[in-house]
Amino acid sequence: MNEKNVLFTIFGGTGDLAQRKLYPSLFRLYKKGNLSEHFAVIGTARRPWSDEHYREVVKGTIKTLNPSAEEAERFASHFYYQSHDVNDSSHYQTLKELSDRLDEKYHLNGNRMYYLAMAPQFFGTIVSHLKSQKIITEAGFNRLIIEKPFGSDFHSAFELNEKIRQVFPEDDIFRIDHYLGKEMIQNISAIRFANNIFESQWNNRYIDNIQITFGESLGVEDRGGYYDHSGALKDMVQNHILQVLALLAMEPPVAFSEKEIRSEKIKALKAIRIYEKKEVLENFVRGQYAAGQLDDQTFKGYREEDNVDPESTTETFVAGKFTIDNFRWSGVPFYVRTGKRLTEKGTRINIVFKQVPVNVFKTSIDEPCNDPTLPPNVLTIYIQPTEGFSFTLNGKKVGQGFATDPIKLEYRNSAEMVENSPEAYEKLMLDALNGDSTNFSHWEEVAQTWHIVDVIRQVWDQVQPDFPNYKAGSMGPEAAFELLEKDGFEWIWQPDHWYRERGKLD
Ligand SMILES: NC(=O)c1ccc[n+]([C@@H]2O[C@H](COP(=O)([O-])OP(=O)(O)OC[C@H]3O[C@@H](n4cnc5c(N)ncnc54)[C@H](OP(=O)(O)O)[C@@H]3O)[C@@H](O)[C@H]2O)c1
Repeated sequence: MNEKNVLFTIFGGTGDLAQRKLYPSLFRLYKKGNLSEHFAVIGTARRPWSDEHYREVVKGTIKTLNPSAEEAERFASHFYYQSHDVNDSSHYQTLKELSDRLDEKYHLNGNRMYYLAMAPQFFGTIVSHLKSQKIITEAGFNRLIIEKPFGSDFHSAFELNEKIRQVFPEDDIFRIDHYLGKEMIQNISAIRFANNIFESQWNNRYIDNIQITFGESLGVEDRGGYYDHSGALKDMVQNHILQVLALLAMEPPVAFSEKEIRSEKIKALKAIRIYEKKEVLENFVRGQYAAGQLDDQTFKGYREEDNVDPESTTETFVAGKFTIDNFRWSGVPFYVRTGKRLTEKGTRINIVFKQVPVNVFKTSIDEPCNDPTLPPNVLTIYIQPTEGFSFTLNGKKVGQGFATDPIKLEYRNSAEMVENSPEAYEKLMLDALNGDSTNFSHWEEVAQTWHIVDVIRQVWDQVQPDFPNYKAGSMGPEAAFELLEKDGFEWIWQPDHWYRERGKLD
């Protein structure tokens, strides 16, 4: 068992992320014995809560995990609340005194984790104060966990990073990309590097194209204010999608260690072509949802959502083609797509293999096949909501003659397995406690992904989009389908077909 004596200071301790993800994750770690009795949590935010009220809130957040009353009480007793405005220097003195007192009380040996669960404009000031007000300890470790977004372009990310690096060395900075904590994202490496059948084929000789879809059926819900200033490109492509792409495209690391994986991911990201203006317009498509109907549900358009500018030109959908200029991937398009208010929620990866050189069955005498091509073999990795893989093969159609039929081999983690496996935030918090930053974004990765995305943003900012251009409930604008069609491909995952065939979607 890996127990750590540690003080967590959670900035934004009253917020949504802290309540929905962080407290339940800490409880699971506590229950599994990853946190000893020697830990304490300071939650800080402006509202004037008492410790008692804070502990009640914390207990409320772990209710669904069914703790006994005694267990919940014991866990919550480690939580302390400090009302604190992060812009007010004098408040940090109180925070320091409380931190030192808890350090002594719980024998924490000066080990501290600072979790910035707040809006990014506060990151710089918090970090500077941690140093200037001597909250950072001399003894023990001091680690920073920082939420996305990390900057809003390369320039702002660079400035933020410079500020943080004056206080924390890179090894102590844990930039969260919670997708990297997900079971099936971590499984990409197992599929690739533990199966010769795939690793031997994982290149431009055998793979036709790779498709990454991060689809959401929800709209912006109550995040309109934030989202309208961000958009899908910055919210999803710069971080989650490019991180997944790097894991799919990287060379095999010489060892499965933080340092070696990181170095391969960075090389893969550096091989992604940074587009010229013309290439951006040819290879990237943006969209914004209009009102729409799916099945019996009607949805309003993005511009009618709360806290969204009625003339907003923010994209709620992106589809694009990335090109990787290296020996392994030259000529293999990596298509990516993400959007809100799509037909179904689903994050999945499709690896589409090349056709056999000749389709001998097209000359079958018994049952001539009109289509000279066979359906491709496709390896699908399901990230969420279900977790698993499938692989489609072509087999013989049962019966007389010799026609082929696609056959799907499928494996899904059981609901019980998914339920009992650690949640992404739990895994990532434990990794950070252990000082393992394999599943976090390194500065060089962040910098490179901003370089890639910034040019797309700059080109788009010069051209007025024709929004809205897709109906809520569909799988995005027409141009997202044409993007693949002009290369002779199509999206493998088309959940909208099912609804269209049954008259449930226009
Ligand atoms: N929620 C999610 O699922 C999620 C997912 C991915 C990333 N994130 C990121 O996580 C961060 C937090 O998101 P969130 O959804 O938890 O936001 P939130 O619910 O708005 O919480 C913000 C927190 O900051 C506190 N706060 C605001 N101004 C403050 C100030 N001047 N001094 C001290 N505290 C202040 C608020 O409490 P008071 O009002 O009491 O001060 C509150 O606790 C953001 O960077 C977000 O992008 C969130």
